[in-house]
Amino acid sequence: MAVLLSGGAGYIGSHIAAELIEHGYDVVIADDFSNSSPDVIAAIEHISGRPVPCYAIDVKDNLALDKLFSEQHIDSVIHCAGFKAVGESVRLPLKYYRNNIDSAITILEAMQKHGCKRFVFSSSATVYGSENPVPYTESMPAGSCSNPYGRTKYFIEEMLKDAANADNTMSVVLLRYFNPIGAHESALIGERPNGIPNNLMPYITQTAAGIRETLNIFGNDYPTIDGTGVRDYIHVVDLAKGHVAALGYASRHTGTAIFNLGTGKGTSVLELVRAFERATGMAIPYKVTGRRPGDLAAYWADTSKAEAELNWHAEKTIEDMCRDSWRFQKALHG
Ligand code: UFG
Repeated sequence: MAVLLSGGAGYIGSHIAAELIEHGYDVVIADDFSNSSPDVIAAIEHISGRPVPCYAIDVKDNLALDKLFSEQHIDSVIHCAGFKAVGESVRLPLKYYRNNIDSAITILEAMQKHGCKRFVFSSSATVYGSENPVPYTESMPAGSCSNPYGRTKYFIEEMLKDAANADNTMSVVLLRYFNPIGAHESALIGERPNGIPNNLMPYITQTAAGIRETLNIFGNDYPTIDGTGVRDYIHVVDLAKGHVAALGYASRHTGTAIFNLGTGKGTSVLELVRAFERATGMAIPYKVTGRRPGDLAAYWADTSKAEAELNWHAEKTIEDMCRDSWRFQKALHG
């Protein structure tokens, strides 16, 4: 039996693929390469030392997905495919609703048809919205998201809960990611943003590499340790290991379970810049600009539920994350 990994050529998906294979799972990747490259499949194969079946399909394509399910013995799905640019989702909300929601429904229908019962979903801390106190716990109310991207995550969570309610043999695990950074220790896979990075770490690594002149720090007047925004950065390999734990959980339980995947620690933008400089010896020129619309001051995860029920916790430090992000950046651009 195999795990279907949608979006398996993406930043997070590729690390999950490598981790699953290391833990003895057979993995089948589905990716339309709309925001990734087929080279990544070769890199995963190199890391794992074996071929990885890959379907270059859009998971909204129900015929292509049906063919995949007919050809492969899929007993679980990890669904990572989706559009993820927050700003673009504000400009093009229907593009996000059509793609992200339709993908999840199409996969669920194929699973139903082929008797596949385990679904692990790439959700996001963004579903906690702006009303909850920190740290976020899984029992807090969700859904007051500030953008369409976040709302697609929330709507899919709700759909999955309904699907699990309607079929008491189904198992759904919703994984709420905090801020994944870092890269695989091989430096063969990592984050490869198209164009100007939206997220902090790729902007830092590109600044260190001389591709960007100056890092813009979006605001230093938040009520935080140094006025800059605070997030819970988690190494992408730790995040990937969380998925291995979630699959194990899904094989032992039915119904829906929600887990935060974070470290439980907040780090400010300036603290991350300083940690990067310490870990790599590279200087990061920066200037403080205005706040970015939609940003929250500070949030991090309560990780006690994942620790207790998944027997998982993040192990890598901020320095590990910085070092590995930089190693991947150097491997990309020399
Ligand atoms: N930041 C800067 N300069 C930059 C980029 C970011 O100062 O060039 C700051 C932001 O203001 C924020 C922090 O760095 O304080 C982190 O920003 P990111 O863009 O890296 O991450 P976000 O927390 O904004 O977004 C992430 C994911 C989204 C997800 C969101 C909520 O990228 O997919 O968390 O969970 F929706």
